Amino acid sequence: MYRLVFSQVLQRLDAEAVHHSTVSALALLARLPLLKRLLHRLFAPHDPALRVTAFGVHFPGPLGLAAGFDKDAACAEAVAVLGFGHVEVGTITAHGQPGNPRPRLFRLVRQHAVINRMGFNNAGAVAAARRLRRTRGVPVVIGVNIGKTKVVPEAEATADYVAGAKVLAPLADYLVVNVSSPNTPGLRNLQAVSLLRPLLTAVKQVADATPRRTPLLVKIAPDLADEDVDAVAELALELGLDGIIATNTTIKHDGETGGLSGRPLKARSLEVLRRLRAKVGDRLTLVSAGGVEDVDDVWERILAGATLVQGYTGWIYGGPLWAARIHRQLLRRVRRHGLKSVTEAIGRTA
Ligand SMILES: Cc1cc2nc3c(=O)[nH]c(=O)nc-3n(C[C@H](O)[C@H](O)[C@H](O)COP(=O)(O)O)c2cc1C
Repeated sequence: MYRLVFSQVLQRLDAEAVHHSTVSALALLARLPLLKRLLHRLFAPHDPALRVTAFGVHFPGPLGLAAGFDKDAACAEAVAVLGFGHVEVGTITAHGQPGNPRPRLFRLVRQHAVINRMGFNNAGAVAAARRLRRTRGVPVVIGVNIGKTKVVPEAEATADYVAGAKVLAPLADYLVVNVSSPNTPGLRNLQAVSLLRPLLTAVKQVADATPRRTPLLVKIAPDLADEDVDAVAELALELGLDGIIATNTTIKHDGETGGLSGRPLKARSLEVLRRLRAKVGDRLTLVSAGGVEDVDDVWERILAGATLVQGYTGWIYGGPLWAARIHRQLLRRVRRHGLKSVTEAIGRTA
């Protein structure tokens, strides 16, 4: 049904217009408590066998929505009631900014992929904080992904991230330092350990100072050389970070300028996950994102060592109840393997 609607209607409309309409519809849903609770009962993961605990946070299921969809924390609850086990909002920058000129979002339908060069369009940390403070009608785990404000020079990047973290860390179930988006000039240079160490050290001080000590993760690009993946992993261990999200979009493609996501990213994302697991074992929580399309992908990532899995492009092509469907299938898979919980599968083939 969704495939028909996608090919006959959505695919013909401007991708960003569809995106904004979807966020608005979900923001409306987030304000309808009865419907929200009903959908939550129907579609959110409830079975204890799907629960995972990472860095002290309890997730109802391992599959969450990756950053970039709910950039302004406008509709996280509504996303959760459609079956996602967590929602990562953002990227949010300390100061609001318009992002790059349109068009900046392109579907590659045959490849089940997307190219985007959004450029962190968002209303800024204070506006997002106002939304995050609203009481939640249904339980939802919200990660907050922060990035650098475009006009801030690289030399002042740490202060900019710290400003965002101060506002948002107290409101986040976990905080992510995003140094891997390709659409903010120079951002990915911050993945070099010499720049990343002072940045992560400063943000960690902020995250550690919140009443609950907010868990801190770093999100990396798939285009890092293998030695650089190792170097970031070592740094994360050294600094006592809680985890790594791998990966963001890739610039290795020959389409429109921007980051490529979806099916073509699958192999490299899995490769980076395996490399990280080999390096850090279970000392860090690994969150795998990139080209996750179905339950087989989710299962493969979990077996390879991911405690949590994220998807975005797979949802675009899979339809609104994509995550609910995958969690249902995952539960069957867990039972078929005679496991008591999905947790028992983490890292089994690593
Ligand atoms: C339209 C779009 C916007 C995105 N924006 C962000 C962002 O703001 N911050 C971020 O960390 N990742 C962003 N991403 C990357 C995703 O979070 C994810 O890491 C990547 O798309 C790989 O997952 P996927 O193949 O399931 O989409 C974006 C992805 C897409 C498709």
